[in-house]
Amino acid sequence: MKFKKNILCIGAGYVGGPSMAMIAYKCPDCRVTVVDINPARIDAWNSAELPVYEPGLDEIIKKTRSKNLFFAKDIENQIKENDIIFVSVNTPTKTFGAGAGKAADLQFLEKTARQILEHSQSPKIVIEKSTLPVKTALAMERILASAKGKITFEVLSNPEFMAEGTAMADLEKPDRVLIGSRETQSGLKARAELVDIYARWVPAEKIITSNIWSSELSKLVANAFLAQRVSSINSISALCEKTDADISEVARAVGMDSRVGSKFLKEGIGFGGSCFKKDILNLVYLCSYYGLQEVADYWESVVKINEYQQDRFTANILGSMFNTLAGKKICILGFSFKADTGDTRESPAIYITRKLLAEHAQVVISDPKALKNAAIDLASDKGKISYIEDPYSAASGCHALAILTDWELYRKLDFQKIYKSMVKPAFIFDGRNIIDHKKCFDIGFNVYPIGKPALSRFEDQSSV
Ligand code: UDX
Ligand code: ADP
Repeated sequence: MKFKKNILCIGAGYVGGPSMAMIAYKCPDCRVTVVDINPARIDAWNSAELPVYEPGLDEIIKKTRSKNLFFAKDIENQIKENDIIFVSVNTPTKTFGAGAGKAADLQFLEKTARQILEHSQSPKIVIEKSTLPVKTALAMERILASAKGKITFEVLSNPEFMAEGTAMADLEKPDRVLIGSRETQSGLKARAELVDIYARWVPAEKIITSNIWSSELSKLVANAFLAQRVSSINSISALCEKTDADISEVARAVGMDSRVGSKFLKEGIGFGGSCFKKDILNLVYLCSYYGLQEVADYWESVVKINEYQQDRFTANILGSMFNTLAGKKICILGFSFKADTGDTRESPAIYITRKLLAEHAQVVISDPKALKNAAIDLASDKGKISYIEDPYSAASGCHALAILTDWELYRKLDFQKIYKSMVKPAFIFDGRNIIDHKKCFDIGFNVYPIGKPALSRFEDQSSV
């Protein structure tokens, strides 16, 4: 069959896989191919067990794979054969050299740009889909411009706003699709071509266009704003614990103001995920680079409050359990950075587990989807941690439960049964405020929520 457009995506990760699956599903007349340097990833995408857990993804893959969606390993050949190339490779925070700990590590992106340059035999539209620092498109353009006039490349920015766990719904009904381009004749033409793809299922008024730098910056700022709301509510949760105000009541009252809105005001142990911290640090680095130190400090404080919230949580466990955790068994319920994903990148659970291990606690980790990733994250602590998927078996014989992910299944646990199997006095630290605290207290637990009074049988309720 002859397809109308041939689309390639380089990078078959959390962004590349689901977003290309949606394009293939909505555009049956386009052939979509996804490649990756990691052959095992491609094998997994071609198997029954996909490398990414995302509700609804399996069904879309079943409907499109081998029809107009292909996962392939021959990157060079695919670059030759496709006219539209999405770049969705990872861009982690640099761990070395200038900007270490803040700036993005662009080595994977640069390698991809050079590969595109080397193997292209016809003009291409190259679309940045990875989250990137502002002006990355310029670097990409400069590398591609060394083709010396033989082949033309148009670079577009099309940041992905989907959230993990709801990726398929977000891709199907996005709040907006943003496409940035050069405002030249060829830039506008390439922009129109990409608009045409999204217009198959996204209403025209939701497809917005801008210059390329605004598009790149918008992605960083959108994530910084969302993360800032989480840090704002978490900072107030600390104050609630001191004043006997209840953070849920405060969040509801504040969020009902339509100017504020109710989303992203859920208190917890802080944000995780591959984007928030990385994007804020990119923004901070950019501001410092341009000498805007006050602006850099403002945004950096969002990350500092996030770390503070995790420190507070572990200090509260230590203080409430009589200032020693040595030899005590603590069951961590939930390791992924949020519900409905197996992704553990930047999960607060990693940091909290390490802190508990530093106190010589014995840690048992339970999670319905993230145990494999948890074991990789904590490989250096092998032998000190047990991984048990079933929450009842995991909790048995433990002194405390720490709920770190908002998985629906934890709301519905039989806490009476769990209490019976635990060492007494038994503690619950609800890092997500998702369970019925009063009910658990009545069962016999000492219960420590976030931003609300503890329900404890001990006089000395150490909240930090
Ligand atoms: C985020 C952005 O939402 C998405 O638009 C962007 O494309 C990628 O980054 P994601 O990281 O997948 O998506 O998840 P998100 O739902 O934003 O949650 C991020 C973190 O904040 C999670 O750890 C979550 O538990 C936490 N969070 C979120 C809260 O603690 N409280 C809230 O009210 C909302
Ligand atoms: P994201 O959440 O941004 O999608 P992931 O780490 O899940 O990030 O996915 C990025 C993917 O890009 C990985 O599967 C990685 O192997 C792949 N990748 C990195 N560099 C290259 C490259 N030069 N060519 C092809 N794929 C690459």
